[in-house]
Amino acid sequence: MKDLIRQKIAISDEIASSLKKQLQLELHSSNSYLSMAAWCDIKGYTNSAGFFYKQSEEEREHMLKIYKYLIKMGVQPSVPASKEATLDFDSVRSAFEEALNTEIAVTESIHRIYSQCRMANDFATEEFMRWFVNEQMEEESTARDILALFDNFGSDATSLMLVDERIKEITA
Ligand SMILES: [Fe+2]
Repeated sequence: MKDLIRQKIAISDEIASSLKKQLQLELHSSNSYLSMAAWCDIKGYTNSAGFFYKQSEEEREHMLKIYKYLIKMGVQPSVPASKEATLDFDSVRSAFEEALNTEIAVTESIHRIYSQCRMANDFATEEFMRWFVNEQMEEESTARDILALFDNFGSDATSLMLVDERIKEITA
C-alpha cells in the first residue's frame, strides 16, 4: 500500500504540510504588500507604491512556484485563505518597517522548511527551497537599504519625497 502511495506522491506528508503553510504565508505577504501599495498611492508616495505593487506580484509568483511544485510532486494543494492585511500605517517608514518584519518572518519559515528537508533527506525539496533562501536574502537586503534611506534623509515632508525618488532608483 505504502509503495502505491509513493508511486503517486514524491514527498512526505510532513514536508507537504509545511509547503502548504508556506503557500498561505506567501499569499499573506502578497496581500500585505498590496495594502502598503494602496496606502502609499493614496498618500502620494508614488514610487514606494510602485515598489509595493511589484513586491505584491512577486509574492504571488512565489506562492504559485510552491503551488506548482506540490502538484509536480503529486500533492493537490487547496487554495489557501490569507488573514487580513494591515490597512493603515503611521508613516511611509512604518510601512517599510512592516515589510522588513514580514520578510524576516518569511525567511524564518523558509529556513525551517529547508532544515526539515535536510533532516528528512528530501534532497529534491531542499534543492527547490534553495532558490527561496537566496531570494529572502535579497528581499531583506533591499528592505534594509530602503530603511537606511529614511535614516539618512530624515522624516520631514521634503525628505520623505526625496526618499520616494530614491526608491525609484533602488527598484529600477
Ligand atoms: Fe516570498
